Amino acid sequence: MKKLVSYDTDDLQLQAKSLAKQLEWPLCNKETIPDKNPNIVLMQEKDQLVAWHYCNKQKSVIALDFNSPKMRHRLQQGKKHKENIIKAIGLHKRPHLKVIDATAGFGQDAYIMAHYGAKITLIEQNPLMHILLEDALRRAQLNPQSQQAASRIQLVHGDAKSLLRELDADLIYLDPMFPEKTKNAKSQKNSAFLQDLIGPGAETNTLLDIARECAPTVVYKHPLRAALSYKVEPHHIIKGPKHAFVVYQN
Ligand SMILES: C[S@@+](CC[C@H](N)C(=O)[O-])C[C@H]1O[C@@H](n2cnc3c(N)ncnc32)[C@H](O)[C@@H]1O
Repeated sequence: MKKLVSYDTDDLQLQAKSLAKQLEWPLCNKETIPDKNPNIVLMQEKDQLVAWHYCNKQKSVIALDFNSPKMRHRLQQGKKHKENIIKAIGLHKRPHLKVIDATAGFGQDAYIMAHYGAKITLIEQNPLMHILLEDALRRAQLNPQSQQAASRIQLVHGDAKSLLRELDADLIYLDPMFPEKTKNAKSQKNSAFLQDLIGPGAETNTLLDIARECAPTVVYKHPLRAALSYKVEPHHIIKGPKHAFVVYQN
């Protein structure tokens, strides 16, 4: 798969060059980006980084924004008690919970937990996702509406399988890549992007084993359409329309 770094205007070339060096991806002028599939371009814009994803002859723009209208709507007052993720981690009973979100992705689950008061260590192993998250958190720190929640999130780059053993938390939250590519993923641009960038996850049960050794409670977000392959009996399960939050307690 072709992966490139580019820049919106010439004055952003130096910033883009440094990202290209960090990712070890080629730097390319915006005008000469090849229109091939699949293709991922990290684009340095004036105020933010975005990823362009070419898939099935269509270009999607992937932008991480903790102040998006969708996220603001989700976090409107009074909705806390409807959030299954909050019930699953028990934040309504323990407001200052220390959580490791070991599979950061777009950081959306982490931001919701942080918004409602949890202190989050956020781990991401993919270098591009880590760069996009760093940029989204920097912007969230600059916005009074998201400043407080963003200040409760500490981002770490690396493989959770080793980092979990060095970190301390009340609870570990996992939402790993699903093992198989599904038709559903194609219809959702963020999932399709992750599937092309990272591929299906193959180590979910290993991650669950390690997490259960490292914290008294582990919450595993699991798509309802898939069978649960982990054989340990959960303490309880909270089901939503698309996902189950499977809670393991030692
Ligand atoms: C499905 S996404 C998580 C989505 C996230 N819950 C959200 O709300 O946006 C899974 C992410 O976990 C990351 N990941 C998977 N295994 C990991 C590991 N062992 N260590 C760190 N990150 C991992 C992947 O790179 C991917 O970005």
